Amino acid sequence: MSASATAAISVLDAGGQYCHLIARKIRELGVEAEVRASDTPANEFAGRHGIVISGGPASVYDADSPSIDPAILSAGIPVLGICYGLQLIAHHCGGTVQKGERGEFGLAELRTLEDSALLAGTPPGQQVWMSHRDLVTAMPEGFRRVAETASCPYSAIADPARRLYGVQFHPEVVHTPHGQRILSNFVLDICRAPRDWDPVHSIEALEEQIRRSVGDRNVFFFVSGGVDSTVAYTLCLRALGAERVRGVYVDTGLMREGETDFVRHTFDSLHAEGTLAIEMACEEFLGALQGASDPEQKRHIIGEQFVALQERIIETRHLLDGHWVLGQGTIYPDTIESGGTAKAATIKTHHNRVAGIQKLLEEGRVVEPLAQFYKDEVRAIGRQLNVPDTLLERHPFPGPGLAIRCLCVESGASMVRDADGWVVPVNSVGVQGDSRSYKPVLILTAGGPREATEVINRRHDVNRVTACLGGNAPVDALSVRPSGLTAARLATLRRADAIVRRLSHQSGFETRVWQFPVILIPLGTADAPDSVVLRPVHSVDGMTAEAVVLPDSLRAAMAAELLAVRGVAAVLLDLTHKPPGTIEWE
Ligand code: XMP
Repeated sequence: MSASATAAISVLDAGGQYCHLIARKIRELGVEAEVRASDTPANEFAGRHGIVISGGPASVYDADSPSIDPAILSAGIPVLGICYGLQLIAHHCGGTVQKGERGEFGLAELRTLEDSALLAGTPPGQQVWMSHRDLVTAMPEGFRRVAETASCPYSAIADPARRLYGVQFHPEVVHTPHGQRILSNFVLDICRAPRDWDPVHSIEALEEQIRRSVGDRNVFFFVSGGVDSTVAYTLCLRALGAERVRGVYVDTGLMREGETDFVRHTFDSLHAEGTLAIEMACEEFLGALQGASDPEQKRHIIGEQFVALQERIIETRHLLDGHWVLGQGTIYPDTIESGGTAKAATIKTHHNRVAGIQKLLEEGRVVEPLAQFYKDEVRAIGRQLNVPDTLLERHPFPGPGLAIRCLCVESGASMVRDADGWVVPVNSVGVQGDSRSYKPVLILTAGGPREATEVINRRHDVNRVTACLGGNAPVDALSVRPSGLTAARLATLRRADAIVRRLSHQSGFETRVWQFPVILIPLGTADAPDSVVLRPVHSVDGMTAEAVVLPDSLRAAMAAELLAVRGVAAVLLDLTHKPPGTIEWE
């Protein structure tokens, strides 16, 4: 939590995935915002122009759910509650919050019921992004009902006299197109906050910060060839000079086709020759992963392998004598999704937040120059540093690599047929109402994205909905077999991924999506035991995402080539937004 003496707006962290994003959106309005613990006593907000209470994974009725000091609601400071924040306001002011039956995840149509300062200047019917199960069913006294959606009668409420406001939807995410106007209405018009925030995130300031935290020590980096670690590495090179920075790229055997050559080539062009070593460790990683099928277990094993390898490399190569710190390209969403802020639920553990690294963090031996930034901001910094576009425009690729995209199951089972389609008994991670879910997948019998959104909002037993793009056998003939993380399955996935990347590059489709994961799931026949899942998504910061429909010609070309890969039974397209799906399957 970063308390600031001069912040105009305090954002209270109730554990939401988007808490930090709210603060960032407010700063984009030129207003200084800080993030504080949700239960900070009201007297600490003296002098603030306004308070925003973020969303969160909890229910107001859970015993240990994040709370607020109710005195903030009568301190005369304007308050805006978002999602769980709205429910907290309603709860404390005498309204009723109930468990929702269906929940509402993804896009919804908001209808304005009466004029209010909060929604001023936005259209009477507008798209908003929802992610909740509980909802307000009776309004607290003194409040007015300002807007609704089909399944949420109190989507926006206001008590203009006390300047208390609440919205059930998320104005801070890009999928609420007028969200920034709504935040601006609150911050500038209702709170009358001064616009005096100067974004001091210049390159020089970042370099100075690195020099300060590293002191007279040196920095040792694992680089992945991705945007974040390359930009962080380049910043450290500039701040400290080539003699004080060393990097190792590890070929874990979990990388994509051609990756090692790409990295070698790119680092040569960054004038970082001589600072980077390439380490082959395929056998170690694959050996350690034998028998692991749970995604969190895989992530921990991979993270700890990196730590062990790092210790070995430093010892055996005498890479850096004396004092050293570990440099990492961690960006803000990595920290939130690993449960790294005070109250956020752990959705998944990023490899740069495992126990061994936590220990180094506690000892002050980690430098993470990009920890406050989102991906789009990191790309902008990279551009200023002249990192080539071929690297900056790369789609994100997770540190644990293909290991997490190769789904494993311990026992076989048949699919269950129902009115919507087939339920595939392979669990994957999702995010529902700010918490982690781990549930089976549905293959729709018929329909597209619209039907998929309707189905996912209605059902609790699955967290993803897919369409089948083609198969070497009818869907009815497919079943799930016990499958582990074998070299053969990784090779199938690597081939499939290379095909999809080539076709999406050649067609120009790759520039129209934020990311295009390709996943292998153990759904197939005795001869062809696996299916390939395509997951093209549109996103701005990775925090929320929309499933993207593939153009017909590309869909046909990909299905045809993928079905010719040995071992592949069917090709599926994921139609699930985030939430309730995540971008990755694991
Ligand atoms: P999810 O799957 O949580 O992904 O919707 C959000 C974004 O984060 C990326 N991701 C990772 N990046 N290390 C990384 O560097 C990781 O362990 C990791 N896991 C997910 C994911 O690819 C997407 O862009």
